[in-house]
Amino acid sequence: FENLMTALHGGEDGALKTAVITLHRPKALNALNDPLMDELGEALLAFDADDSVGCIILTGSERAFAAGADIAAMAKREFMDVYRTQFITRNWETIRKVRKPVIAAVAGFALGGGCELAMMCDFIIAADSAKFGQPEIKIGIMPGAGGTQRLPRAIGKSKAMDLILTGRMMDAQEAERAGLVSRVVPAEKLMEEALAAAAVICGFGLPSVLMAKDCVNRAFETTLTEGIAYERGLFHSMFATEDQKEGMDAFLTKRKANFKHR
Ligand code: CAA
Repeated sequence: FENLMTALHGGEDGALKTAVITLHRPKALNALNDPLMDELGEALLAFDADDSVGCIILTGSERAFAAGADIAAMAKREFMDVYRTQFITRNWETIRKVRKPVIAAVAGFALGGGCELAMMCDFIIAADSAKFGQPEIKIGIMPGAGGTQRLPRAIGKSKAMDLILTGRMMDAQEAERAGLVSRVVPAEKLMEEALAAAAVICGFGLPSVLMAKDCVNRAFETTLTEGIAYERGLFHSMFATEDQKEGMDAFLTKRKANFKHR
């Protein structure tokens, strides 16, 4: 890959591994262009299909998770061109196909498409240096990778309108108060914390992890009654897994569960 780095962590004693994808376009604060998004989609799908991987972390640099879509690559584009080539939709939505958990570990700027990409992950762990915002309005456009839909769902209408209409940034503390990020940690501890969270997830049974993620995402797509019916169907199906027998037996016999992930 030219615009990102990948690595595998953990996997001791047969445990599932954590895949780390690091966005790497340092000259442009990880601005997101087509080659980068194509590579990101490819890496995500490869790790999702890899049976030895249980969780994926998406991160950037100390200075920027990503400072948005690449403005230089967008500046001269015309309507029919972006419409016909399905700009953004074509390669930005791949992450939605990933069934394993994806944690965003965010330090520095997560602006525009960078904030939107972080919001497409399952949860966000932020360094105290993180800054979130949707500044598109300042360059004559508006968010175009789901920001107008995911931000209000994450932080409510008032704050989402404030950020999208004024283009201001919010720091990690405000983002945590608003519910955009799940934890804030000192910048130097960001990867340690994200890897620890991922290792916890990798220790659980894969069926429970995949189904829990699927059900939580369903909450944003459907009615309460339909969502609960969906949850109940998958919940019942878990009684057909080895992990359910193992997890409950381990609890009752006061030992550590040894999940087989199937
Ligand atoms: N696209 C292309 N290049 C970018 C970029 C972007 N989104 N963000 C930063 N860069 C480049 C800069 O042009 C600069 O390159 P040069 O050194 O070649 O001049 C380099 O990265 C470093 O940036 P700065 O010198 O600007 O660094 P700074 O510390 O002074 O400022 C910043 C940092 C506040 C993040 C500022 O770079 C900035 O405002 N960036 C743009 C943020 C933005 O508007 N994002 C939204 C993009 S639109 C979008 O994302 C649409 C969508 O919804 C999908």
